Amino acid sequence: MSDQNLLLEQPEPGVCLLTVNRPKALNALNAATLDELLNALATVAGDAAARALLVTGAGERAFVAGADIAEMAGFTAAQAQAFSEHGMRVMSALEALPVPVIALVNGYALGGGCELALACDWIIAAENAVFGQPEVNLGIPPGFGGTQRLARIVGRARALELVTTARQLRAAEALAIGLVNEVVPAAALRERGLEVARSIAAKGPQAVRLAKQAVHRGLDQDLAGGCAYETAAFALAFATADQREGMRAFLEKRAAKFSGR
Ligand code: CAA
Repeated sequence: MSDQNLLLEQPEPGVCLLTVNRPKALNALNAATLDELLNALATVAGDAAARALLVTGAGERAFVAGADIAEMAGFTAAQAQAFSEHGMRVMSALEALPVPVIALVNGYALGGGCELALACDWIIAAENAVFGQPEVNLGIPPGFGGTQRLARIVGRARALELVTTARQLRAAEALAIGLVNEVVPAAALRERGLEVARSIAAKGPQAVRLAKQAVHRGLDQDLAGGCAYETAAFALAFATADQREGMRAFLEKRAAKFSGR
């Protein structure tokens, strides 16, 4: 599937690769691209064979350099509210996707681009990645969830520093503060993403989905509520063919052949 500003491919069975494709604007997110993202995420959500989604940016310079400043410059407050809500829907759709989503950050991930990466389940960064929330340089705060997800991922004090000073982080510092899970050479980024997606695709699909949901639901509530959710997810797994197959395969000392049912 190929829209004007987005490419959705399936480089391997079960692995979806979404590329924001506006390299001339360093893949900045305008309203048209947000629409295309929503459509593409609905396609992935509806694909029963999907096992993992990789998200990246076209070209070698940027993952996504932010929301489109040229488009936002003349916004009224009402238009800004609608644009922020539009972006928030994209970020929520990424989180709600049943399969794990990994951001492959290949350059600038600034403003809305950092927020897009933060809404993915985790981030693998190329050595040339640069992260930041530079919105205050433009006289605005973040608008696609940056103040919320950044604080939840790197903690209150670091998030406050980053959103109020607009300081940018290179990949090594992003790794040190837990913003990214790993850093690889730029030339190895795609293959590393595929390798991780492949390892997820080999697991029990229902179990992967239940585990992702439990982590997200749990973080939105207190420990007791999260643990109760996990118990429900655990019990539900015992109604799947994958649980039977996974445990039988272990006991028979062979590799499991999961059906996703
Ligand atoms: N929106 C629109 N266009 C953008 C863009 C953005 N966020 N970022 C880059 N571009 C465009 C530039 O305007 C330029 O276009 P032209 O060639 O037509 O002039 C092209 O991409 C290349 O960019 P530069 O010439 O600026 O490249 P550089 O190497 O000198 O600098 C950069 C790279 C440091 C990333 C710089 O482009 C930059 O600072 N971009 C803006 C980053 C930013 O402020 N992002 C936050 C946006 S606000 C936001 O995202 C709000 C929100 O939370 C929802």
